[in-house]
Amino acid sequence: MNYLEMSRWKAEELKERGTARILALETSCDETAAAVVENGRIIRSNVVFSQIDLHELYGGVVPEIASRAHMEACDRVVDQALKEARMTLQDVDALAVTKGPGLVGALLTGVNCMKGLAFAAEKPLVGVNHIEGHVSANYLSHPELEPPFLCLVVSGGHSHLVEVADYGEYHPLGQTADDAAGEAFDKAARALGLPYPGGPRIDALAEEGNPEAYVLPSSKSGGRCVYSFSGLKAPFTNTGHPPEERGGPLAKADLAASFRRAVCRELTGKARLLLEEQGRDGYRGFALAGGVSANRELRRMAAEMCEELGIPLYMPEIHLCTDNGAMIGSAAYYRLMRGEVAGLELNAQPALRLV
Ligand code: KG4
Ligand code: ZN
Repeated sequence: MNYLEMSRWKAEELKERGTARILALETSCDETAAAVVENGRIIRSNVVFSQIDLHELYGGVVPEIASRAHMEACDRVVDQALKEARMTLQDVDALAVTKGPGLVGALLTGVNCMKGLAFAAEKPLVGVNHIEGHVSANYLSHPELEPPFLCLVVSGGHSHLVEVADYGEYHPLGQTADDAAGEAFDKAARALGLPYPGGPRIDALAEEGNPEAYVLPSSKSGGRCVYSFSGLKAPFTNTGHPPEERGGPLAKADLAASFRRAVCRELTGKARLLLEEQGRDGYRGFALAGGVSANRELRRMAAEMCEELGIPLYMPEIHLCTDNGAMIGSAAYYRLMRGEVAGLELNAQPALRLV
């Protein structure tokens, strides 16, 4: 029996049993993260090693540095995740790894690491879509959540509105025409002279500002469900020019707050249209996912909107919003239960899409 045959056979057994403890690794960008997750819902351990310190000097993620740092950290982070779960490699039922989208070198490091471990330990391996991982973070924070629901996925590289029709079944309903929401936050933060990563910093600064102080234009996006942030950013970066060029002091906190509100209005406004159309009968709830779902204003605005519409709101806990291994372990469980396992030809897919 070759590796893939063995893997399929073991996956079939797990499917019948309906339970699986999965060791998952995430290395798509600048976090080396590993976790052990049980049955897609229970976190046994979740270890995140952030590379922020290494990239801060350059104002953004340097792909070569990221790959090298992942290579150095992978084994250690995986060992730590097993140790914190009080397990050995033999105790887990399957392994999982992010196969894309992301930085090719960073992804390859993780994929190769887990292929080696899976082969050596004779365990099935599941290749996971990183965006599906973000959506699945909600299953960890909300054990009662089941599809169908509407999900707003907002991260450094993605702004999508997706209908989660079932586990592993997604229908795209909206996306961005230009920047991703996280990218917009990062660029705006840079214009304000805030260090990388800009999203959380602009969010913190905005808490001290007046969101009505600056009037930013509303989105010029073409479609009902097409996001656009570049229009918001252009006047923002102009306004953000050094005070000496504009002849007056700059209220950075006010500008951060005004920008944050405009972005969040754009994000929730379009979700509202779909939720109003479908009502409570169509979706069991509205969920946020991805790094930007940690944004305080977005969480507040989504909560207000859902209360008004009478629709349950689901948001991952803050530490599960940004990249982590547990979300990959959760997504992998539902793939495994559909018998989806990877062979040793599994490769990094930097431009992988959710649908
Ligand atoms: O999901 P994530 O960790 O990585 C990707 O898959 O891209 O998202 C990272 C993005 C970055 O752009 C970061 O600035 C943004 O999420 N982010 C935030 C906040 N926390 C992280 N943006 C706004 N407010 C936050 N609190
Ligand atoms: Zn991510």
